[in-house]
Order: sequence, then C-alpha cells, then structure tokens
Amino acid sequence: MKLYNLGSVNVDCVYAVEHIVTAGETLSSADKQIFPGGKGLNQSVALARAGAKVLHGTLIGNDGAFLMERMAASGVEVSRIKRVDGSCGQAIIQVDRHGQNSILLYPGTNHRIDRQYAEEFLVDAEAGDLLLLQNEISALGDIFAVAAEKRLPIAFNPSPFAESLRRLPLQLVQWWFCNELEGAALFGSADPKQMGEAFLRMYPDSHLILTLGADGSLFVSREQTFFQPTYPTQAVDTTAAGDTFTGYFLAAILQGKSCAYAMERAAKAASVTVSRKGASDSIPYARELD
Ligand code: RIB
Repeated sequence: MKLYNLGSVNVDCVYAVEHIVTAGETLSSADKQIFPGGKGLNQSVALARAGAKVLHGTLIGNDGAFLMERMAASGVEVSRIKRVDGSCGQAIIQVDRHGQNSILLYPGTNHRIDRQYAEEFLVDAEAGDLLLLQNEISALGDIFAVAAEKRLPIAFNPSPFAESLRRLPLQLVQWWFCNELEGAALFGSADPKQMGEAFLRMYPDSHLILTLGADGSLFVSREQTFFQPTYPTQAVDTTAAGDTFTGYFLAAILQGKSCAYAMERAAKAASVTVSRKGASDSIPYARELD
C-alpha cells in the first residue's frame, strides 16, 4: 500500500508573546522565527521521520524552496511537487509563555490546487493505496471525487474545521484525525465518550483518532475504544503536536502495527514535539523515541 499526502505547505512566522493578542490590542513579541510548516508538510515530515514512505503533493510558490528542501531532507518524496508563480501559504503563529498557540492562515498557493493537479499527483495510485488530506488546500470536493474513482481510502484531518466539509462524501474516510473542537463540530458532542458513540453511528466502518491535548487521546472503532494518556513533558510550543500524532499513528499502521501500538507511539512522538520550538523542526525521528 502506498501513501499519498496531498497537503498544504506554509511558511510559519512564529512570534513569542506573553499572551495571545486580544481584539484591539497591540502587543510586542519577544522573538520571531521562521519555520517550515503547514499541516500537510508537518504530517509528511512526521511520517518520514517515523520511517514510512510518503509521496507529498502540493503547489509551491516562489518563497518555498526551503520548504521543499526540509521535506526532502527528512525523507519525504517531493518529486511531484509543482512550482508555481506566487506566494506560498503563510501562518502567523503566536506562542504564549505556556506554549499555547493561535494561528492565522494565509492560504497562498495551497488554494490553487485543482482537480487537474490532483489527477497528475495520483496518476499511479492504485485501489487500496491511502490518500492523506487536511483542510488547508482547495478543491477538496474534486480530490475526494478522484479518490472515489480510484477507490483510494482517505485518512482525513478536518483541520481547520469549516461547515463546507459536511458536503464532502465523508463515508470515504477510513481514518479520522480530529482534535476536541473538530470532533465536537462534526460529531455533535463535546464529551469524548458521547462523541465516539455519535461517530460510530455515523461512520460505523471508520476509525476515529481524537486528540485531547494534555488530556490524552481516544481511539474509537467498532471493534475497540480505548484511551491513550500523554507522556508528561514541559510544553514549550504545541504547534504541530496533532500533525506529529497523525504522522506517527499512520506510519505505525502502514508498518503493520496494532492500533494500540500506533496510539502509544504517536503520543510519545507528540510529547517530544511540544517540548521543542517550531512546527516540522520539532518533530522527532524514530530513533529518538527508540
Ligand atoms: O498544525 C500546525 C500547522 O498549522 C502550522 O505549521 C501552520 O502552518 C498551520 O498550518
């Protein structure tokens, strides 16, 4: 089974602040750093650093050479990434003294992805290969349609959540990766147990991986539901913790491991990510976990 990730890449501009700026407030930051980011890029980097083979697809703008270099250096296959004229996606990220963040996105070239590019990217995908998607790119409806035609199961991180996601043929999603806010919006309850039950009524053949920040994570499927605690750590920057979880979980599944192992490994990797600054730069290699 091959894994294709058609996902965003962003230039992350990270500002260190005392607290997240509020409406009408002007705030000075103590530090500014530029990191490679984007949920798509981070998840591909996590997959590759976890030892999985991943082919990443995206459109990359004039300012994105370093994004592609960092992906390639981590072991991501980048040969189908297409360069286009324009600016890459950008994320303005504030990180407060507790390591919590807020993110403002400019989509840039991530929103120029269309059906034609998706077909080019997936040209050799075969039935049963896995397609990983997040909600930071354009043309998701077309991409789901291409996946349906090719009979590709989807691993979906519906982040950031938008009402328009409900119009997608979500029955194609085999692996859902949600945080508590996305899960509540999609499955109608803020309580993780009730959310899991609602999820199974809606998608009884799928799997839900629900991340709950410092409170751990929950795995839900028809066969089994179980809780995975976090590994205690000093949170410095939570950016990309969820992406790390997604990448490490899927890498373990692709390696034939059990869901319990995948959840435990993903929790361990995410705890390392939050203990370091930056998005993809903070994602550990498998050898660090070993
Ligand atoms: O999930 C973290 C990512 O969200 C950041 O890297 C940023 O680019 C935004 O897409």
